[in-house]
Amino acid sequence: MITLERVSKQYGESKTVLALRHIDLTLRRGERVAVMGPSGSGKTTLLNVICGLDEPSEGRILFEGLDLSALDDDARTRLRRDKIGMVFQTFNLMPTLSTLENIALPRRLQGQSRRESEHQARAMSERVGLSHRLDHRPDELSGGERQRVAIARALIMNPPLLLADEPTGNLDSATGHEILELLHALHIEFNMTILMVTHNIQAAESCRRIVTLRDGQIVRDAVTATAGEAH
Ligand SMILES: Nc1ncnc2c1ncn2[C@@H]1O[C@H](COP(=O)(O)OP(=O)(O)OP(=O)(O)O)[C@@H](O)[C@H]1O
Ligand SMILES: [Mg+2]
Repeated sequence: MITLERVSKQYGESKTVLALRHIDLTLRRGERVAVMGPSGSGKTTLLNVICGLDEPSEGRILFEGLDLSALDDDARTRLRRDKIGMVFQTFNLMPTLSTLENIALPRRLQGQSRRESEHQARAMSERVGLSHRLDHRPDELSGGERQRVAIARALIMNPPLLLADEPTGNLDSATGHEILELLHALHIEFNMTILMVTHNIQAAESCRRIVTLRDGQIVRDAVTATAGEAH
């Protein structure tokens, strides 16, 4: 569903950083893939070029056969909103909006009515176990609850691709485990493709495939032995 062909990303003019070097990577529909690698190896950059937040300096990215570089900014923004869910380490919720409003936001931005989008958001909030926190603002929620809001928001459009950048990085291990279990259950239910950056080997091994980056290159791309019990 997504293919990277010799994708490189260079930052800066004089003190250049080659954050990605000639990445070839294909993710199939429904795959759950972990990205590992040391700090600075290019994991976040990889997610950013896939979702179109950053443009590759070289190479091309095909999303469901569509060449991302051929799209203008508006089309790229729409693609990100409608087809790609994103979850971050720091949750990135809108601080002034309630749980329900945060989850409904992508549908509101798409132009849906408040009534219709909040109807959908309510169903999604139930799915992630938040129906008792609908009126709370993010600062009135625990870390685990905030990440549940972010996951519900990421999936409200039912996107074929979910990108997660260290989704449990700011959570204690028990809460992190719950969030991974939730992602696991949602993956089985919705069958989206998941690409998840993690430093946690257990989180990585819950995926079927682990891609390891070092200095902007893929140094390993392996199917895990322990995953797959759910498949
Ligand atoms: N906007 C930017 N401008 C210049 N250099 C950047 C920029 N963003 C990232 N870099 C550099 O690109 C390299 C890869 O960064 P990236 O954020 O992708 O690493 P990462 O693997 O996600 O690391 P971490 O595990 O610490 O999150 C790093 O050397 C970083 O300093
Ligand atoms: Mg990062």
